[in-house]
Amino acid sequence: MRQPPKFDQLATPSVPLAEMTWFRLGGAAEWFAEPDSLDRLSELTHECGEHGVSLRMLGQGANLLIADEGVDGVVVRLKSSPFRTVQWPKPATGFATDQPEEALVIAGGGADMSRLVIDAVRQGLAGIECMAGIPGTLGGIIRMNAGGRFGQIGDVVRDVTVIERDGRQRTLTRDEIGFNYRHTDLGGAIICRATLALRRDDPKRLREKHLEIMSYKKATQPLGEYSAGCVFKNPPERSAGRLIDEAGLKGRRVGGAFISTQHANFIVAQDGATARDVRTLIGIARREVADRFGIELETEIEIWEPSPARSTTSAA
Ligand code: EPU
Repeated sequence: MRQPPKFDQLATPSVPLAEMTWFRLGGAAEWFAEPDSLDRLSELTHECGEHGVSLRMLGQGANLLIADEGVDGVVVRLKSSPFRTVQWPKPATGFATDQPEEALVIAGGGADMSRLVIDAVRQGLAGIECMAGIPGTLGGIIRMNAGGRFGQIGDVVRDVTVIERDGRQRTLTRDEIGFNYRHTDLGGAIICRATLALRRDDPKRLREKHLEIMSYKKATQPLGEYSAGCVFKNPPERSAGRLIDEAGLKGRRVGGAFISTQHANFIVAQDGATARDVRTLIGIARREVADRFGIELETEIEIWEPSPARSTTSAA
């Protein structure tokens, strides 16, 4: 096992990761770290860069499949309070629907998205209620511009502060972030903090919208099971879930994993499932959809392999 000089103080060796992911699958991290300050994170990033060690960001493991063999290098989670704090704007005395007032929220990259959505709705701040039911950390969600049929996070991000691979800190404007469908140009940069531009609105209206989205999701998605949300991105003008469904794959099982009977873009892992089972199902879905419809499905979930090219990757 490689052991760059300062790793002993910065990270813990051989930490199992399965319980940190929504699939509850996968092996251990060669090294695992939860830095307690920006300086420690910067030091760790710099150290990895210097020694050519891969560094991966783990959010809440909501959108992630980790190989059964585990992963080499360092896995980092921003769980300590400096990365989770949220600065809310001062409460307003009222709101004007004809001229919505902008309200800026500054939140850490490790902040819990579901909590953020609920707190914003409660305070009458509009713009992220469309993210209801999308789990993950704010940083992970921004990095992949997560969203759904009701909107995407990129619509409200004003800027992000990141730590680059060499350990340097930088603030990027929304144009520099390059938001696209489930994609940004952020690459390996670690999102430490983001400014969201929300609008004052009627809390009651927002609560209703939030409830409506949650009811839609509960009715159409297997939310109570171990899964990583939608496995594939939607191809242009099409729904990946519908294509897999029309290919007759709902309920298809490999080992302990199966394609959800409720929403075909979800793979559910049951007791005894392995990451390999999920990988096999992903392959089957891709092959069948390509054969039937001539469409190449692209995965939306992040997949961590044991020995990738040495780089920085992140997941929500
Ligand atoms: N459909 C089927 N069969 C299925 C699944 C869906 O016929 O098995 C049909 C639905 O009836 C609907 C259409 O396909 O007419 C689209 O389905 P849905 O409304 O569920 O939306 P989606 O495009 O499959 C997107 C996001 C979800 C997000 C929902 C709701 C992507 C890849 N998926 O799903 O995001 O929750 O909208 O906002 O963009 C995720 O990212 O993990 C995720 C689940």
